[in-house]
Amino acid sequence: MRGDANEHSTASRAVEPDDGDAIIEFDRVTKSFGDTAVLHGIDLAVRRGEFLTIVGRSGCGKTTLLKMVNALEYPDSGRVLVNGEEVKESNRVELRRSIGYVIQSVGLFPNMTVGRNVAYVPRLTRAWSKEQERDEVARLLTTVGLEPAIAPRYPNELSGGQRQRVGIARALAAKPLIMLMDEPFGAVDEITRRSLQDELLNLQRRLGLTILLVTHDIREALKLGDRVLVMEGGRIAQLGTPDELVSYPADAFVEELIGG
Ligand SMILES: Nc1ncnc2c1ncn2[C@@H]1O[C@H](COP(=O)(O)OP(=O)(O)OP(=O)(O)O)[C@@H](O)[C@H]1O
Ligand SMILES: [Mg+2]
Repeated sequence: MRGDANEHSTASRAVEPDDGDAIIEFDRVTKSFGDTAVLHGIDLAVRRGEFLTIVGRSGCGKTTLLKMVNALEYPDSGRVLVNGEEVKESNRVELRRSIGYVIQSVGLFPNMTVGRNVAYVPRLTRAWSKEQERDEVARLLTTVGLEPAIAPRYPNELSGGQRQRVGIARALAAKPLIMLMDEPFGAVDEITRRSLQDELLNLQRRLGLTILLVTHDIREALKLGDRVLVMEGGRIAQLGTPDELVSYPADAFVEELIGG
């Protein structure tokens, strides 16, 4: 079921997923907003270096789940752990800087050039010297398939696909081990989308990133995910490899999703 670009995935992974090596854990996590229960006792372990894709109907809790990893939301009960440390107890600012977060709707800083956008976190933490910044920005732009020459441009001078690449470069600049991606390729055409997917897969393997990526596109979920998490009404309908989902859908909802 996986695409051609994915043929070499197991051979070239920087980090092999391993059951005993969870980088993110959800332990009976529940969450409500007012009277509305959004997550019902989620248990989940994401392995170091794993690419986990998350699919499910609008409103089923995907974004809420992601936001719990970088302390944008907290559980009402249960625990979320990142690198073995409970998110609630960790330093929020440090945690967020160490986790790349790419979302479709909140784009780049419009008043900053591409270069400044990419260098945003390293500037905050004074991680780079001036010369280093120029080199690193160029390297990161190249990494996501952009010409370093666009660094002086502003976001409104880019196409949607280019903006999304800059968003990924910005997230990578902080050298995250974890990337949270909430429908990152929503706004781009099918061809650009496919090339972004392929680049992301390559990056993930090369850098050994752990990625949680939310998508509405089941084909995207099956192509990118080492495992796919199907959510339904704040519960896990199924968590399995693309092959498992296709061969053994857990219920009618998953079957319909796959069949569609
Ligand atoms: N801050 C909030 N206050 C109140 N309700 C919220 C809040 N955030 C999310 N919700 C509600 O929680 C539910 C889950 O929202 P969430 O954003 O996690 O869904 P989602 O699966 O990401 O949906 P979509 O696919 O549309 O992005 C929805 O019913 C939503 O209206
Ligand atoms: Mg969402």
